[in-house]
Amino acid sequence: MMNLAVIGTGYVGLVSGVCLASKGHKVTCFDINEINIGKLDQGICHIYEDGLEDLLASSKKNINFRLLTDKNEKKLLDFDAIIVAVGTPTINGNSDLSQIKSVAHMMGRLIKSSQKYISIIIKSTVLPGTTDTFFKNIVEAESGKRVGEFGLGMNPEFLREGNAIEDFQYPDRIVFGFEDKKTLEILRLIYEPWDCEKIEVNTRSAEMLKYVNNALLATLISTINEYSNIARSIENIDFKKVMRGVHLDNRWSPIDDCGQKVFPKVIDYLKPGCGYGGSCFPKDVLAISALAKEIGSSSNILSAVIEVNNRQPEVMMEILNKASDDIKNKRVLMLGLAFKPDTDDVRESVSLKLLKLLSGKVDNLVAHDPIAIDNAILELGQLDDVHFSTEWKNKIEDSDIIIICTNWNEYSELAAMKDLLKGKIVFDTRSLLSGIDVSDFQYLTVN
Ligand code: UGA
Repeated sequence: MMNLAVIGTGYVGLVSGVCLASKGHKVTCFDINEINIGKLDQGICHIYEDGLEDLLASSKKNINFRLLTDKNEKKLLDFDAIIVAVGTPTINGNSDLSQIKSVAHMMGRLIKSSQKYISIIIKSTVLPGTTDTFFKNIVEAESGKRVGEFGLGMNPEFLREGNAIEDFQYPDRIVFGFEDKKTLEILRLIYEPWDCEKIEVNTRSAEMLKYVNNALLATLISTINEYSNIARSIENIDFKKVMRGVHLDNRWSPIDDCGQKVFPKVIDYLKPGCGYGGSCFPKDVLAISALAKEIGSSSNILSAVIEVNNRQPEVMMEILNKASDDIKNKRVLMLGLAFKPDTDDVRESVSLKLLKLLSGKVDNLVAHDPIAIDNAILELGQLDDVHFSTEWKNKIEDSDIIIICTNWNEYSELAAMKDLLKGKIVFDTRSLLSGIDVSDFQYLTVN
């Protein structure tokens, strides 16, 4: 078993740390944020992720897992590999690499004073070329040593928020990006307990793989949203049935060995909706598109993916305005603030964009989410006419328009509340209620 350090106890670092420890590796997580490290030490997670606190509790009982602040940076020399999982936010469309940069300087200083071979493995999402150029150059300049005297790798994550533990424990594949053979060996040892296909490539291919994966899924979402927007403009097209027919093409939905039609998960990305959000898709599509422009490569599709997605909240407003002639006199209940269910993350959430568009244009605006209200208030700032509520069922009676914007499972209970919904508009931007009897109320979808 390996002795591993993880730098950064954000969503990716913490999930990776506890999951690696659960397989028997000795893991120490480092972070500059002493408050978060203090909380984690008491078993309290500063981020919400299904199953994370339980796994943290069992890891902490286990001597294989501990937490330290970066003040203990010299201890980093004790490890076989340092996994870097610090943030790489996008600022004005550009990747902010300041955290990666400071880790590179720190590692360079440490490597300079050590005889030990240490592999540094980047897990943060970074653009192709970042590890083998930006990061490597700083470490080499600071340490006076070259790759080969220390190790360099790139091991992207494919964790969906809300599903992160399961995605880490049962991955579709694991990518080993490496610049030296020893780091490849270390990556193989770290992930020996995982039984899935492992892709071994140089670090920039590993970085590219991660971007293509996310950007392609975002492309599917924007593509279908564009087709559905065109169909709505043509009018009188049953787009739901159109897409059912498309999904039945056996290249999307093959027939398995038992003769059954299989609808793979990718079909979900081929259904129209209010657009994508979150901390990954918007940032990653923007970043790879900006890189393409910078190096003079065309990125027409990526530009269109972004444009369609940016406009989708306005499209939602157009659908609402068309269905309701006097929206300024309507009382609106917005269901869901998180960018998707099972998370309290509201970054780039379509619900918040829609709330901003609705603010000042309707008679009353109430917003509900089971866990994301605090984050929504922080993100939205002051919107005087938005009232937040931790209850939603008792708000239906006093609402004229109910918008489902995050497909939290509990909102499917609306299907059994037909009497309460009489005469109201239900705008189901996620097609959560598909198949319900809508004879007593006006049911809007993006289809
Ligand atoms: C995404 C990827 O799915 C992960 O593989 C990747 O590791 C992660 O980004 C990352 O780069 O760290 P995540 O952002 O958690 O994960 O969420 P998804 O479930 O993929 O959803 C992204 C957005 O697409 C959300 O706004 C969601 O509502 C939207 N979406 C998703 C749809 O509009 N339709 C769908 O069928 C699925």
